[in-house]
Amino acid sequence: MSMRIVRTISELRAVLKALRENGRRIGFVPTMGCLHEGHAALIRQSAARCDHTVVSIFVNPTQFGPTEDLSNYPRELERDQALCLRLDVSVLFLPEPAEIYPTAFCTFVEPGQLGDQLCGAFRPGHFRGVATVVTKLFNMVQPDLAFFGQRDLQQTVIIRRIVRDLNLPVDIVVVPTVREPDGLALGSRNVDLGPEERARALCLSRALFAAEAAFQAGERRPDRLLDQARQHLGTLDTLQYLELVDTQSLEPLGRDVVRTSAMCLAAVIGKTRLIDNVLLAPDPDSAQFTSHLETE
Ligand code: PAJ
Repeated sequence: MSMRIVRTISELRAVLKALRENGRRIGFVPTMGCLHEGHAALIRQSAARCDHTVVSIFVNPTQFGPTEDLSNYPRELERDQALCLRLDVSVLFLPEPAEIYPTAFCTFVEPGQLGDQLCGAFRPGHFRGVATVVTKLFNMVQPDLAFFGQRDLQQTVIIRRIVRDLNLPVDIVVVPTVREPDGLALGSRNVDLGPEERARALCLSRALFAAEAAFQAGERRPDRLLDQARQHLGTLDTLQYLELVDTQSLEPLGRDVVRTSAMCLAAVIGKTRLIDNVLLAPDPDSAQFTSHLETE
């Protein structure tokens, strides 16, 4: 089937109305473009579980801080379009900023405390922008399922909370992080890394994998697990945070790791800000946090 490219909300609604006929399930993958294998993994999951997949590409201005360069965000529209076509996407939604934020726009979704921790402490207002645009996109697409990457763990926790708190009729699926063969988590900004920076960036995943290995070997003390990770981050002077948090509240763990938790970090390498995380799950069932459908 051919892929429809739509730029306005009214066009999107008209196309979706026809696609939804006979109870067809709609999957949604929101993105900011410059698509890579991480995005492709979300699209493939959607294709496997839904009858039609909608992908949006929108570089959302409200989630960029005043010192973060929105205009420098990488854009690769032609390549993105070709990838979506190959992955059997039914609808590619490419709105202009004015379509999403009309003049005098003033209503925001405020994620509260969850948006102030981890990345939120370094990017004030970021998750308010994410929460607002994702809620708006959900209202436009009205998907049955929406797919998000575990790489942005805090984002997934906030979106799940919005869905619950605001009773949005959508199921959220979280897809495991896709990595380069050497461990680096894929990200649209990785293209900005020079060869030396790219090599240095590897210490992030190495640190997390070291903690994961210690956890698998039976270590449950948060301070020891964090020490394992820190050993690989020794020379990194631009680490923003390294934390072991509860995956529901995002609060740092106290004593023993009893529930499913995540070790999360962020660092700036050169001019590129990178994030990564691993889940540490004491029992195999909770390890499925990443791929489970959650209907709260
Ligand atoms: P973007 O960074 O383009 O990411 C879109 C989706 O792809 C997110 O759900 C993200 O977690 C996922 N993703 C990115 N890298 C990944 C990787 N290596 N493995 C698995 N999934 C990965 O996240 C955003 O855009 C925006 O905040 C958005 C949700 C679109 C709202 O503007």
